[in-house]
Amino acid sequence: MVGEVVDRLYRTRNASDAELKLLIGLEDPSLLREAALSRRLEWYGRKVFIRGLIEFTNHCRNNCYYCGIRAGNVSLGRYRLAPETIMELVRDGYRLGFRTFVLQGGEDNGYSDEGICSIVSSIKKEYPDCAVTLSIGEKDHGSYRAYFDAGADRYLLRHETASQEHYSSLHPSRMSLENRKACLWDLKRIGYQVGSGFMVGSPGQTPDNLVEDLRFLQELQPDMIGIGPFVPAANTPFATKKAGSVDTTLNLISILRLMFPYSLIPSTTSLGTIAPAGLEKGLEAGANVIMPELTPPDEARLYSLYDNKPVSAGALMITDGSLRERIRAIGYDIVTARGDVAVPKRP
Ligand code: 5AD
Repeated sequence: MVGEVVDRLYRTRNASDAELKLLIGLEDPSLLREAALSRRLEWYGRKVFIRGLIEFTNHCRNNCYYCGIRAGNVSLGRYRLAPETIMELVRDGYRLGFRTFVLQGGEDNGYSDEGICSIVSSIKKEYPDCAVTLSIGEKDHGSYRAYFDAGADRYLLRHETASQEHYSSLHPSRMSLENRKACLWDLKRIGYQVGSGFMVGSPGQTPDNLVEDLRFLQELQPDMIGIGPFVPAANTPFATKKAGSVDTTLNLISILRLMFPYSLIPSTTSLGTIAPAGLEKGLEAGANVIMPELTPPDEARLYSLYDNKPVSAGALMITDGSLRERIRAIGYDIVTARGDVAVPKRP
């Protein structure tokens, strides 16, 4: 039964709701993993793309119940990196082989669109061979357009959950799933490579919700898909909730690889935070991207989306070879490349 479903998902990139739920909950995922790895090898070989993550501001106007940098967390020290500091991090990152930089931050009203555009265009001017990814939340069309015209190549905006009801149990009423989705469609229309995704095991999530997430992604057809387990964060309404399941997350990574074989899927920090060797497990489940953090340690500590988020000193891990070694040890290779999405083709 499982073999048959996996085989069909492999061949047709689709399965029924009930079949997807079966795969999501698999306790022995060996067939699912095998199929996902075969698709991964076919599309991306043994390559692992690296993205230099620069968390440039932890100011946020939103109050998402799960997130440690929510506006309501008044005990958190706030920072904003100066444009010159960002450029220095990019220069260091370039020397280390990074060819994609992800500028991520809260929804910070302290940065004007001109400010963002100027950072993007400075990076693109100095390093035309690099991709710039923005991950700064919900903006209006004019802003998205302006960043794109300034040279931004990609945009990450997880939908977080595709269920209306579940969405409103994770966010205050001033945020809506409708607007989130509208932003994603807008970004696609403008021409960005778009990333979306969701948390696994966020409070109140049901297996049906996860199927809805997969169905929404089928509609959106994003280029990048980021998922990670929910991890409780101190000083949030969900501080004492249970973390999401690592096994469910890994099963979902494999399912995503089969449904969207061409996509860029990171093995995320939250997975690495709650699972021993989580980074490796994500890659072995079908992920093909890692996002080492280039944020300086003092600021990285304050970019506390959830508890025990490692201050990984991504740059250092690359310089001293330890990250490359970890990846090589499981048979994969970090490459120096922009790592654009493979051109989607039909099954
Ligand atoms: N646990 C796991 N992931 C989280 N994120 C925010 N807060 C948490 C948490 N407590 C994720 C969201 C967001 C991304 C930047 O981090 O999915 O889109």
